[in-house]
Amino acid sequence: ETSCRFLKRLAESAEDADLYHEFNSTLEFDYYNALLINTMDSNGNYVELGQEFPLEKNEHFNKLPVNTQMSSIQVPTNVYNKDSEILNGVYMSEALNDIFVDNFEKDPTLTWQYFGSATGFFRLYPGIQWTPDENGVVAFDARNRNWYIQAATSPKDIIIVVDISGSMKGLRLTIAKHTINTILETLGENDFVNVIAYSDYVSYVEPCFKGTLVQADLDNREHFKLLVEQLQVKGEGKVKKAMKESFRVLNEVSMGQGSLCNQAIMLITDGAMEDFQEVFEEFNWPERRVRVFTYLIGRELTFAENVKWIACNNKGYYTHISTLADVQENVMEYLHVLSRPMVINHDHDIIWTEAYMDTVVGSLLMMTSVAMPVFSKKEETLSHGILLGVVGTDVPLRELMRLAPRYKVSNLNIYLGLLVHVELKGSETPLKHH
Ligand SMILES: *[C@@H]1O[C@H](CO)[C@@H](O)[C@H](O)[C@H]1NC(C)=O
Repeated sequence: ETSCRFLKRLAESAEDADLYHEFNSTLEFDYYNALLINTMDSNGNYVELGQEFPLEKNEHFNKLPVNTQMSSIQVPTNVYNKDSEILNGVYMSEALNDIFVDNFEKDPTLTWQYFGSATGFFRLYPGIQWTPDENGVVAFDARNRNWYIQAATSPKDIIIVVDISGSMKGLRLTIAKHTINTILETLGENDFVNVIAYSDYVSYVEPCFKGTLVQADLDNREHFKLLVEQLQVKGEGKVKKAMKESFRVLNEVSMGQGSLCNQAIMLITDGAMEDFQEVFEEFNWPERRVRVFTYLIGRELTFAENVKWIACNNKGYYTHISTLADVQENVMEYLHVLSRPMVINHDHDIIWTEAYMDTVVGSLLMMTSVAMPVFSKKEETLSHGILLGVVGTDVPLRELMRLAPRYKVSNLNIYLGLLVHVELKGSETPLKHH
């Protein structure tokens, strides 16, 4: 409950800051870039975005050097750190600094507090210095983290349909498997999922889950990943049967759940040749209640039109994935579409994400989060429901223990397991018993 109150203050403060901030396309703003702070050029002057930022080692924050007076800003390498969207977002969210500090003063057991912006930057309190990986790259993108995704989207029912016909052999199958895994990683406890493979026949990768959806918790996601790894190609791709089966299952599960649910089919294939229009006529039109997202795998574009058509006629999104490197970014696209329904309702639901951690500044930080979405309150954006980002904070272990009855015991075990792991790897001190 305390975390909830602190988060709400952060979310409201970010929304107000945005409300009173007018976008300035020529804005110049020398913010504290976590990658550049305390960096001098050969003349002994601080580089742009790299001003002096006092850091002090702090027991409470994994023994890292931190600045408890200010937050610092991380921007992934593939986002331009002086883009006007970034500069405006960082500028307006400076208002969070006071709230971070005040929250921490009110509850010194609080740990990391942060704001992941939809524009791509990550404001972390207390401020830290960020170290790139061995290739000089900062890959961490808050928008891809589970806490961000879970807070930014409403609960989803997803069926992943993968083509395992003969033409999908080799690299295509590898890309398809990676795409499935990446989709699975965007799901959490509030979502339901199944994975169907098809060639001449339709088969559930887990036959025990036939005809239903299962909770997309960590156990089930890992289970699916293992089974997907074993998929092999053969035969001809009969997409129609697989789509029919998917619609049938989604229709059935939605009976009890009402209209709140957000349903989608993710079709992964290198092309669809049949005359499949009648499937959509029978199951999804005219309401188009189920969105269909299509991922065309491989370099060949012969069947691109068909695959595009399926997505466009079912309120989905078409993407072409030709290399493994394309997967992450293309999969994330679907979230922008699925996030809208909740954004319009302006739910300030608090999201508990599963225990996990991130590798930051060369050591492991606990990033088990409670998170809350932040929306624009500007008049002109209200009807579109613009998501500004997600605020989050880590839950102190004590509080998690107190809430344990409400939280799943299996997750608590994972949490504790990870904590022990972090302490072992992070500090190289003997195992502590909590
Ligand atoms: C926009 O930012 C620039 C540079 O910081 C500043 O000179 C200008 O006055 C700002 N414009 C408005 C309308 O605030």
